[in-house]
Amino acid sequence: VDDRIAAIAESIRIIPDFPKPGIMFQDITTLLLDPKAFKDTIDLFVERYKDKNISVVAGVEARGFIFGPPIALAIGAKFVPMRKPNKLPGEVISEEYTLEYGTDKIEMHVGAVQAGERALVIDDLIATGGTLCAAMNLLERVGVDVVECACVIELAELKGRERLRGKPLFVLVSST
Ligand code: PRP
Ligand code: MG
Repeated sequence: VDDRIAAIAESIRIIPDFPKPGIMFQDITTLLLDPKAFKDTIDLFVERYKDKNISVVAGVEARGFIFGPPIALAIGAKFVPMRKPNKLPGEVISEEYTLEYGTDKIEMHVGAVQAGERALVIDDLIATGGTLCAAMNLLERVGVDVVECACVIELAELKGRERLRGKPLFVLVSST
């Protein structure tokens, strides 16, 4: 397992000063170019979640849409997209969250999930935790049991984990 994680970590490219000076951007597109690293990433999540009675994998637009669907297919769960505002055509519920400057919003279709379902929330990366917290809030507002949140990368220094109200967070790579 450790060998797989080390190779996954190495496949992620770090681009300094993107999108602005001082930010070290964690670029998962290079992980996607490495079929073994990509498959190992999905497999590690599938191994963890396959026997946990999860019926919903919720992925956050945009990069959660890359990792969520293959996990959902492999564990026999449905995939629910959590989208940026005004993209979903049906009736939605939405949740606002704070960014470094200002606020953002994610939305989910009403009726995509039922009260009592068990969900995994997936994204590529947790920074401040605002995005994952909002995704979790949306699901919990409609009575879904969020079993865990999972990401490929955690920027540990930003302590986003602390924003998740004690909800377990599973990450493959923790970066400072
Ligand atoms: C990035 C990343 C996470 C989020 C993490 O998404 O993919 O979703 O930021 O930040 P947080 O923990 O501080 O909320 P972003 O909205 O920048 O872009 P994307 O549409 O490419 O996923
Ligand atoms: Mg994102």
